[in-house]
Amino acid sequence: MSEQPQMDDTPAQFPFPDGPLAGPPPEFARRREVCPLSEVTLPTGDRAMLALRHADIQQIMSDDKRFTRDFSAPDAPRLFDNMLLLEDPSLLINVHGEDHIRLRRITASAFTPRRAEEWRPEIRRIIEELLDKVEQAGAPANLMDFASELPMRLICQMLAIPVEDGEQLRKWVAAWLSFAMPREELDQAALEFDNYALALANRRRANPGDSLIDDLIKARDVDDRLSEGELVSAIRSLIIGGNETIASSLSRIVFSLLRDRDSWEALKADRSLLPVAVEELLRHNPPGGGGSGLMRLATEDVELVSGAGTIRKGQAVFTPLVAAGYDAEAFPEPERIRFDRPKSPGTMQFGAGRHYCQGAHLARVELEECLTALLDRFPNLHFATAPEDLAWSEGSYGIGLPELPVAW
Ligand code: HEM
Repeated sequence: MSEQPQMDDTPAQFPFPDGPLAGPPPEFARRREVCPLSEVTLPTGDRAMLALRHADIQQIMSDDKRFTRDFSAPDAPRLFDNMLLLEDPSLLINVHGEDHIRLRRITASAFTPRRAEEWRPEIRRIIEELLDKVEQAGAPANLMDFASELPMRLICQMLAIPVEDGEQLRKWVAAWLSFAMPREELDQAALEFDNYALALANRRRANPGDSLIDDLIKARDVDDRLSEGELVSAIRSLIIGGNETIASSLSRIVFSLLRDRDSWEALKADRSLLPVAVEELLRHNPPGGGGSGLMRLATEDVELVSGAGTIRKGQAVFTPLVAAGYDAEAFPEPERIRFDRPKSPGTMQFGAGRHYCQGAHLARVELEECLTALLDRFPNLHFATAPEDLAWSEGSYGIGLPELPVAW
């Protein structure tokens, strides 16, 4: 087992700069070699451990007993000062223990693989409708318009939300994910979003149906399994969880494929590769840059499986998913897109353990159907702007491309 690395007095400032074209921070690769578990200084000035090996990240995220998402103690380290996503204790990713199990159960049946498959024809229909618009407007088109409209349309349908409200919801979601917006704007967005969710639930109470929101209302009103606040939070969790993640993954996946023409051609020739391709493309170009991922707190001393060192009780640990995906021990030649990887230890892009992404099956169907439609309709899809000239978004959790101009 290797020695725990010697800590400097002032650990390096985290996050590290991303690599070229918003790739993984080169500092991750360097540290994985010399100090795969190290201490870093967070933007708030607090400190956390940083784990960079796939095996360790998988261990930490899967171990719900010895690591918790409970950061409610006043002296718990914080990543950012001003970020609703991390500070809202009622959001599913921030709930822990028995409450988390109870809340997840309420929506679990809406997110099974079978339910995701049942949504496939509707997802296909929405994609075709949106791509009709893209085609009619002609090239060049900003593919991000399509990428962000699809998940919002789908989640609106699942929650019986009028499609016209999507634009406003997107603004609130952006506020939730931002760490650069002024406090007053964040508080205003939080208030408006809550009032909206409450009004939505009340409208639906007066006019019930059989969508996901009716299941939530039933859990609240009939079975008494939810408080009114939890009902509102559940609606928020789904709207936040299901939008930017898909939009940013899709833009990054298309970005990867347009740069790697062989992979694009391979998919064109053989659609049966798509399920494997989606996992590999998410690994290769995951949403969120080097600074994204969630921290966990150790509830006791934990020795990491790779021998990288020990995380001490009370320490926070950061597990960047992009670091897991670029560990050559788990994925040889990680910078290459390969649809024929030998059975790998698994991508971590949907997390692991109890907080594993609830929408993972749905996300896979959305991404598979998007790629199918793009390959069918635009077999010669290409960048309309040199990839080096594209501007990547900053100041928000989901690092992505505000604009992805394409032609065909
Ligand atoms: C490619 C798209 C997506 C990616 C990469 C993604 C990624 C993730 C990850 C990594 C987590 C776990 C975070 C952690 O434990 O550290 C998570 C949680 C979650 N995701 Fe996703 N997600 C995607 C799409 C979706 C969709 C479409 C939905 C819903 C419609 C969704 C809903 C959620 C929810 C509710 C959670 C919280 C689960 C919990 O804490 O128990 N996600 N997601």
